Amino acid sequence: MKLLEDKIRQDGIAVNEHILKVDSFINHQIDPLLMQEMGKDIANHFQNKGITKVATIESSGIAPALMTAAAMNVPLIILKKQPSKILNQDLYQTVVTSFTKETNYELTLSKKYINDNDHVLIVDDFLANGEAATAALRLLRMSHATIAGLAVLIEKSFQPGRDKLQNQGIEVYALARISKMAENYIEFIP
Ligand code: G4P
Repeated sequence: MKLLEDKIRQDGIAVNEHILKVDSFINHQIDPLLMQEMGKDIANHFQNKGITKVATIESSGIAPALMTAAAMNVPLIILKKQPSKILNQDLYQTVVTSFTKETNYELTLSKKYINDNDHVLIVDDFLANGEAATAALRLLRMSHATIAGLAVLIEKSFQPGRDKLQNQGIEVYALARISKMAENYIEFIP
């Protein structure tokens, strides 16, 4: 999506070959009109796929996922992070390991908000190693819901996330695909 690529070129900061900072328009301060356009683009890509719900992982996924859900006129469900393992009969739970942040956390979803009739689109801000998205899939599948695909704003294509998801049969749609980064240098897949 040209709008996002232009914004990344203008306001994104490539810290090194692995990390892109987008705090000024996605992660900390949000550009609402850009976010709305991105949500519409994702909704348009997945239209007529019978999607009943959009799901995301808190916290940075919420803004793009909400815009997508609004454009599709379906509910948004937020997969919640919890620091420790609290067993709860009313929740689906799974552990996530983040390589980027070098942490483990528990991802949870209330059984009230998902069932086997749901066809779910997962939306997130970044696709890096694909661990968060794989955990989201695992969690949603516990309810026997089906998965329509994964949409992300920014894919770091030099990391294994896309392959990991596609190997599980998941369609991956990314608005901007970065093939290479270095300090103050960003290259996109056309
Ligand atoms: P994965 O989700 O694709 O497996 O990647 P990983 O576990 O390595 O990423 C963990 C967290 O780091 C995610 O945020 C992800 O969005 C974020 N992240 C990965 N690469 C980048 C990057 O280049 N720039 C920025 N700004 N973030 C990156 P999270 O743990 O879900 O946290 P939150 O920000 O949503 O609260």
